[in-house]
Amino acid sequence: MERHQPGQAASNWQGDSIVFGCDYNPEQWPAEVWSDDVALMVEAGIGMVAINIFGWATVEPRDGEYDFSRLDTIVELLHENGIRINLGTGTSSAPPWLSTKHPEILPVMADGTTRWPGGRQAWCPSSPVFREYAVRLVGKVAERYGAHPAVALWHVSNELGCHNALCYCDVSAASFRRWLQSRYGTIERLNDAWGTSFWSQRYGTWGEILPPRATLAAGNPAHVHDFERFSSAELLDYYGQELAVIRTASTIPVTTNFMVTAHIRTQDYWRWAPEMDLIANDHYLDHRLEHPERELSFSADLTRGLANGYPWMLMETAISAVSWQPRNIAKTPGELTRTVASHIARGADAICFFQWRASRQGAEKFHSALLPHAGTDSKIWREAVELGALLERLAPVAGSRVEARAAVMFSWESWWALGADSHPSQDVDHLREAHRAYAALRANGVTTDIVPPGADLADYSLVVVPALYSLSGTEAIAINDYVAAGGNVIVTFFSGLADEELRMRMDVTRAKPPGAFAEMLGAWTEEFFPLNANESVVLDDGSRGSIWSEVVRVTTATVLARFADGQLAGHPAIVSNAFGTGRAVYIATALDDEAFRSLMAREVMAAGIAGVSSFGSDVEVVVRSKGPDRFLFVINHSADDVSIAGTGNELTTGESVARTLAVPAGAVRVLHEQPR
Ligand code: GLA
Repeated sequence: MERHQPGQAASNWQGDSIVFGCDYNPEQWPAEVWSDDVALMVEAGIGMVAINIFGWATVEPRDGEYDFSRLDTIVELLHENGIRINLGTGTSSAPPWLSTKHPEILPVMADGTTRWPGGRQAWCPSSPVFREYAVRLVGKVAERYGAHPAVALWHVSNELGCHNALCYCDVSAASFRRWLQSRYGTIERLNDAWGTSFWSQRYGTWGEILPPRATLAAGNPAHVHDFERFSSAELLDYYGQELAVIRTASTIPVTTNFMVTAHIRTQDYWRWAPEMDLIANDHYLDHRLEHPERELSFSADLTRGLANGYPWMLMETAISAVSWQPRNIAKTPGELTRTVASHIARGADAICFFQWRASRQGAEKFHSALLPHAGTDSKIWREAVELGALLERLAPVAGSRVEARAAVMFSWESWWALGADSHPSQDVDHLREAHRAYAALRANGVTTDIVPPGADLADYSLVVVPALYSLSGTEAIAINDYVAAGGNVIVTFFSGLADEELRMRMDVTRAKPPGAFAEMLGAWTEEFFPLNANESVVLDDGSRGSIWSEVVRVTTATVLARFADGQLAGHPAIVSNAFGTGRAVYIATALDDEAFRSLMAREVMAAGIAGVSSFGSDVEVVVRSKGPDRFLFVINHSADDVSIAGTGNELTTGESVARTLAVPAGAVRVLHEQPR
């Protein structure tokens, strides 16, 4: 596959504008409404439309028989109206004729049951049969439209791994074995890496290895972990196969829509990102979380991390409610603008919606769309038109970059590893602890990058390593070296305990304390004391912690706070250590929001970072810049008006601001500051 820095290969995909786009599924509608649809798209200012995402059954209604007549009409209609096309390869869901003819493509669950057609994405990622049919279709689509002037972007499949990430069938088993062979070389090395002496699991030949199918007792965690790695790599390999076919007929940028969210964890996007021409993400507010808008900020900053700081595309979001949560909450007044602004502030140069016209039938008919069932005489349609106008006014922002001096480290592998059985507490979750640290920075007005283990940290003044359970030796050294060279790090509990094969990091001669960070932290953990659900613990500085406590043994560190109640009363809870020319802080519990915010306030100040604001969690302030131009985004989620110093042209209202930018409750302002 081609590897490059995302964003570089396709540097001007946004065409100097903030793209306003949507998914369009005209196959669900009679041809009579298509020209009406496109006229309304023009009225709303839609610049890019994703089509053919679920087009397979329409363009190949029978095995080997292609009918592109409807797609041709749509492509020309969009082209004539100046709308650029994000062209789906159409392979996301196989038509019934394929699964009827080849039921062996269907995915199999860990318990051996099959997942049947009738929903979507019912295919095994390893199936050579599925791949053969899929790439045959991609070849036809690429040949037909690969050089069409309206096609601006290729959209491979759709949300790869949304439903079918893990398949346990015999075909997947064979592919898993090949992957393991190339990772370990010999069966002895695999046995060593997986610790198969435990519970008599030693493998004699590769053929004895299965995917981690349903077991009676807990499965081997290293086995499960490698299967997660393999499964992410397998879909990326599939992406590469579609890409190679597209490249035989087209030079247009290629991508697929990631799912950087709190509820889907199956793909290691740090590995995917370098293969994309640009980074695209799908994001929906998750009302199952306590603070959906904070998760949005984290997801957007993580997407920017995947894009290496370059502008990225929000490929799908919802204009109001979705239809797949237990309660599908409609957006409150102003919320659409605030959420869109938050994505743009954090690096998005395209805002696209699922979908254009609300479906009349099918599983997503209650999902909001730009053109709702109610038609154009509706709040949603008026908001869509207003949003189009707003995005036009924000065009100067396109291509600018976000700068951050703080970083939070996040690892899909650690997230997977911590999600396994048989850990001290099921409540220890890497993503949740990353969110907690991120929220503490955000509440201090600090813009934060999200970086992978192993990242070059030299440009950051402060790095947080939150519940990073597993990491490789090289990745651990990078963190230690960063601090030794003058960096500031905050490590939270359950970090650095295991290596990349999930072996405990310990010296069997007992000469050194366990963990990857004992020397850097000047402290190590002797014993875990996880807290019960709803239990909390008080610290002697008045902070409160939940989820976790532990016996911290101090070597060179200074104790900043101790547990003040519970069975660990008097033991250290927060410590700080000078290491090389830097400083490391360790937190041995999950601090509540307020305690973490105030600890972070001290640490950002000590690290020499000035937050861009002191408004707290409900007002986001982020700066994007491009050469001498600075764009100050203020997103006011609160019920109070706020104001901030600044001079320039305010892009949402067109007003010029002399000294103070006023941002009413619930509003968004984007100040374009230029040097005089
Ligand atoms: C994802 C999918 C779309 C649609 C939306 C609904 O983004 O890609 O096809 O199902 O979710 O929110």
